[in-house]
This record gives sequence, structure tokens and C-alpha cells, in this order.
Amino acid sequence: MSKNFKVFLSEKEMPRQWYNLAADLPTPLQPPLGPDGNPISPDMLAPVFPMNLIEQEVSQDRWIDIPEPVLELLYRWRPTPLHRAYHLEKALGTPARIYYKNESVSPAGSHKPNTAVVQAYYNKEFGIKRMTTETGAGQWGCALAFACSLLGLECKVYMVRVSFDQKPYRKLMMQTWGATCTPSPSTETQAGRDVLAKHPDTPGSLGIAISEAIEAAVTDPTGKTRYSLGSVLNHVLLHQTIIGLETKKQMKIMNEKKVDIVIGCVGGGSNFAGLAFPYIYDKIHGAKIDIIPVEPESCPTMTRAPFIYDHGDVAKMTPLLPMNSLGHEFVPPPIHAGGLRYHGVAPLISAAIVDKLVTPRAIHQLECYKAAMIFAQTEGIIIAPETSHAVAAVIQEAKKAKEEGKEKVILFNLSGHGLLDLTGYEKYLKGELQDYSLPQEEIDRNLKPLAGYPKPKMPQVVR
Ligand SMILES: Cc1ncc(COP(=O)(O)O)c(C=O)c1O
Repeated sequence: MSKNFKVFLSEKEMPRQWYNLAADLPTPLQPPLGPDGNPISPDMLAPVFPMNLIEQEVSQDRWIDIPEPVLELLYRWRPTPLHRAYHLEKALGTPARIYYKNESVSPAGSHKPNTAVVQAYYNKEFGIKRMTTETGAGQWGCALAFACSLLGLECKVYMVRVSFDQKPYRKLMMQTWGATCTPSPSTETQAGRDVLAKHPDTPGSLGIAISEAIEAAVTDPTGKTRYSLGSVLNHVLLHQTIIGLETKKQMKIMNEKKVDIVIGCVGGGSNFAGLAFPYIYDKIHGAKIDIIPVEPESCPTMTRAPFIYDHGDVAKMTPLLPMNSLGHEFVPPPIHAGGLRYHGVAPLISAAIVDKLVTPRAIHQLECYKAAMIFAQTEGIIIAPETSHAVAAVIQEAKKAKEEGKEKVILFNLSGHGLLDLTGYEKYLKGELQDYSLPQEEIDRNLKPLAGYPKPKMPQVVR
């Protein structure tokens, strides 16, 4: 029998519904809180998001229909292929069978358009004319710029300063799709000016850029601008579940009855959630699967930060979210995986950590770049520095399977390509990158101002 290197689905086979993990979590998701410590009501979010997306944000329905016009937007690049990494397996000499879902084939080069086109669609339906957002690595800014161009909306992106300087071509992509891109912190907003007054040389952070983008949306006197977030929130993770739902169909075609290990990198958590949530559903219902979200050692939100209530941004414009957080004022070191430099992590993923449904792992950047080099030289794809965290964990697991002599099935999300991230590769090749562990004192210092905040309840369920 000839080998199948990859599987495609037809457009007809694409899932017609998204999966909402909130419906199945053993410990129910705790609500976002307002400044008075009370749960916020959906209409309090109305100046920031359109109501149709707020409804998804708070929904407890397990399945949510994908509207037909959204399917037609997604057909531009979906369904995406699922690959078997035969060449990587051979190079590692592992008995494990390694698969990856290739989200790098979207027009913007990552999984981010899966939610960008959906959010742009719902904003347009709601009568919105302009969207604002932040971007770390530039992948999300590109995705929203692309989505807004498809739907005829204006788009304004605040890009974290360090990535703006490292990745000039991302800005040009956004401009090509008709968007405006400004380095953050900027002098355009009060939030940006406040940060610059205190720290004129700051590399910026997602937390700062989010404050700027929200401020730009809520201060528009026409009321026709809304903000859009590329990760973290429930509705964003919901839209990404199309990844895992497609993958399940493709794994069946590959004759795999069971997956042993599911891996994804985590910034805010959306690509990991997209692949993993449909498998977490199986785990909740008894399947034995190791589900591993991976983060950088230098920004260890899942492995070293506490589960607390914290703001999603530096200027405290977002409600308090129940999540693992290093503190909203934390500015992560300027590592090349810009999309993983976020102080918090999605409440749904934090809840899955608390419920022990996933086992987070942190990896140093040199090991990640080494993994990216191995991947490029075996499978051929030059992956994004963010994605390299997933590949490093895959290699760890494949080696373990070899030591144990076990034929495990390992699945990971190839969240994006790194063709515009070559500065990071250049630094790695020249030996200019170092590993960095966050000192405990820095974690403690950033968490100190949060001492008086409300605390989320811890679950009763012990798995
Ligand atoms: C290629 C890629 N992977 C992963 C991420 C991390 O984001 P998330 O955790 O929301 O998937 C980013 C964010 O910019 C990204 O560009």
C-alpha cells in the first residue's frame, strides 16, 4: 500500500458548526468581573464588541452554526491539509507516527484568519465600518487586515514596537491589504502616551497594544468602530475549533483510531485551543490523551503564573478575566516568538489547566530554534518562531517514544510559517540568541499590585 503523506478534505466535508468547550468543562467557567468586582453584563461590552459576537462570547451552547457566508469566506484557503511527518520521524528514528495540521497555508500565513474573517463578518453585519486591533508578531494584524479588505471595512493595527522593528514586511502586508499599522506604544492614544512617559525605550507588549486599540475604538465619536482581539477570548477560541474538527475527519482517513498526544504552542491560546478542544471533549468523555500546551520559558504564564483574576491589558480597560497571569504590567523579554509574549492566557485554557485536562510545558528558545531547523531540513517548511515551541515538544515526545519503544500517535498544530521571521533565524544561526528564565522576584514584583483583586474559585473536582 502506498503511503499517504497528506490528506485534504473537500469544501463539502468542512465542519458546519464550531465546538464550544464552555459547554463541557467539568468546572464551569467563571464570569469576567467589572471594576466593582461584580460579574459584567453582556451590554457592558457593547462599546467594544458587536452584540452578535458578545452572544458567542457568553454562549453555553455546545455547537454553534457557522453561517453560510462565513463558510464561503473560509473556502479561500480551507479545509487545510493534514500531513504525516514521515521525514521528521525518519530523522528522529522514532516509532511514533507524527502528524501536523498545516495552518500556514492561509493568505496571511497562519491560523489567525480563521477568526479574523468571522469577526469582520459579524462586525459588518452589525453595521460597523472600522476595526481596531493589536498585533504581536504581526500575524494577527495581517489576518485582520486581510479580513477587513474582503469585507470592505477600515482596519487600524497597533503593532508591538519590538516586532514592528524586527518585522518590517508584516507592516507592508497590512498596508497592501489596505490597513494602517502604527508601532505601539504610540503617541496617538492616552494609554500609549502614559507608557512612553514612564518608559520611553520600552519594547512594547501585547498588553499595551491592546489598551491602545480598545481606546481607539471606544473614543470614536461616530460609534462605528469596534475592537477585535486575535486570541484569549471565548469566541476567538470557538472560531478556531474548525482546525481540530477538520483534523478529526482527516485522522480517520489516515486510519488512525486514536491520538495519544496533542501539542500546540500558546500565546493567548487560540491555535492550541483550535486543535485541542475537540480532543479535550474526548478526554472529558474518557479518552486517554496527553494534551500539551507549550510556552516560552521567558514568558511562563501556564507553568509558573497563578490562576487569578487580572486585566487583559496594561491600562486596565478590559474586565477582570479568570486566567493564569504574570500581571498586566509584565513586559516580557523581547524574544523572537513575538506572538507568545502575553502576560495572560485564555480563560478557557486556564480552566482546562485547573481541571487537569492539559499538561503545560515551557521550553527555552534555543531548543525551539534547533527544532525549527530540524523541521525545515526534514519536512521543508520554515515555521514561525511561535510554532517552533510546538515542534520542540513534539521532538521531546518522539524521543521519549523511542526510548520506551512505543508506537505513539503525536499530533500538532503547525500554526504558521516563518518566512517573515527570518531575523530570528539569522540571530540563531549567528549564535546571538540566549536562553532566559524569568527570575521569581520579577514574577512576584509584577503580581504584587494584584494582591487586593477578587480571587477565582478553585474547583472541587480532583482528576
Ligand atoms: C504563528 C503563530 N502561532 C501562534 C501564535 C500564538 O497565538 P495563539 O496562542 O493565540 O495561537 C501566534 C500569535 O501571533 C502566531 O503568529
